[in-house]
Amino acid sequence: MKNKNFTVFDCHLIHFPKIHNRAGNITPLQNNIEIPFAIQRVYYLYDVPGGESRGAHAHRTLEQIIIAGSGSFDVTLDDGKNKKTVQLNRPYFGLHVLPGMWRDISNFSSGAICLVLASGKYNAADYIRDYEEFKAYKN
Ligand code: TYD
Repeated sequence: MKNKNFTVFDCHLIHFPKIHNRAGNITPLQNNIEIPFAIQRVYYLYDVPGGESRGAHAHRTLEQIIIAGSGSFDVTLDDGKNKKTVQLNRPYFGLHVLPGMWRDISNFSSGAICLVLASGKYNAADYIRDYEEFKAYKN
């Protein structure tokens, strides 16, 4: 399928392994095993002030996995036709965000860490930051 044709229904939660013992938990993530692509970049959002939201853009080719490393927040995906909101609040779940998805991340809890695993290096040209341009791109 072409990148721009993905819909919100193609974006699934992935349940990661959790290795548990009395001293706590480990979740290991490996390229092309737990993560369905090769990770080229990791970044994280933190110290997000109460009431703020992030995102409000789409990517043409970038694939991402979004994880609540700590705390909770809501990810709203929009493919131009359908919207889906997923609350992330466990570090052993990741939301697979395919290319061509407008995303908003909101309702950050105090101390939340939004960990993002990305399939590519930072590239400003991969962003669509105008919602009308996004709708035109998708239709
Ligand atoms: P942006 O992706 O718009 O953040 P968000 O969607 O979370 O609101 O990025 C904000 C700024 O940070 C923008 O100027 C680009 C810069 N940035 C990088 O330099 N490298 C990166 O890997 C990321 C994700 C952002």
